[in-house]
Amino acid sequence: MPGTIGTGFPGVFISLEGCDGSGKSTQMARLSRRLESLGLSPVITREPGGTPFGERIRQLLLDPDSPDRSILSETLLYAAARCEFVSKIVRPALAEGRIVITERYADSTWVYQGYAGGVPLSTIETLNAIATGGLEPDLTLVLDIGEERVVNERLATKRKDKIERRSGEYHQKVREGYRQLARRYPHRVAYVDGGLDVHSVEAIIWQEVVNILSKKGYDLTDEKRGRESL
Ligand SMILES: Nc1ncnc2c1ncn2[C@@H]1O[C@H](COP(=O)(O)OP(=O)(O)OP(=O)(O)O)[C@@H](O)[C@H]1O
Ligand SMILES: [Mg+2]
Repeated sequence: MPGTIGTGFPGVFISLEGCDGSGKSTQMARLSRRLESLGLSPVITREPGGTPFGERIRQLLLDPDSPDRSILSETLLYAAARCEFVSKIVRPALAEGRIVITERYADSTWVYQGYAGGVPLSTIETLNAIATGGLEPDLTLVLDIGEERVVNERLATKRKDKIERRSGEYHQKVREGYRQLARRYPHRVAYVDGGLDVHSVEAIIWQEVVNILSKKGYDLTDEKRGRESL
């Protein structure tokens, strides 16, 4: 089995996607707690960022005072951060058999710079493939938000970053873009209604995660005992 060096379990790569304010960070924390309560220790990370180099690029991309740039330059910076992220964080953790959960990954670029930003999707897909070496998540959870009103309410008190400050029209395309993702990557994308209350979203996500972990050979009903016997 691939990725079984460290823990006796295969590595599993899960990404959380969705528009700004869709609840990704909230759900990452809840998912992480659930996995930890079963004796698993997931790697929790985010993009852009995750590495010191990537966090510097994050600042350049998202700081509201960062200089304006073309959407293609922005795309290339995301690719550079992603390249570091995959080689320094994701691949080593998967090779140790860890569960890696990231807030945002290559699909964010497909949606924000491609579908909403106008960079041809074929260009985005080529750059993503170069940056990731072809590494796709085993499961991508998209927190789907239908109405602008929902995110506007949630983000009302937040100091918006450079990309969150873009027009309502741009963000509408972002929400639409996320709905197109499953057509492109149906084998790994699962939609969750991000407009539901926090507990309902958490329960739906947990079901999806249990499914993928079961497919990978984890027995979650017996997880603690399974790990103790390793
Ligand atoms: N299901 C929910 N119902 C109501 N409010 C929620 C829900 N999920 C998250 N929130 C609230 O919405 C706000 C944004 O949530 P959160 O930071 O988790 O979103 P995010 O997708 O990580 O946003 P960003 O794209 O800015 O990182 C927070 O104040 C959070 O408490
Ligand atoms: Mg967040």
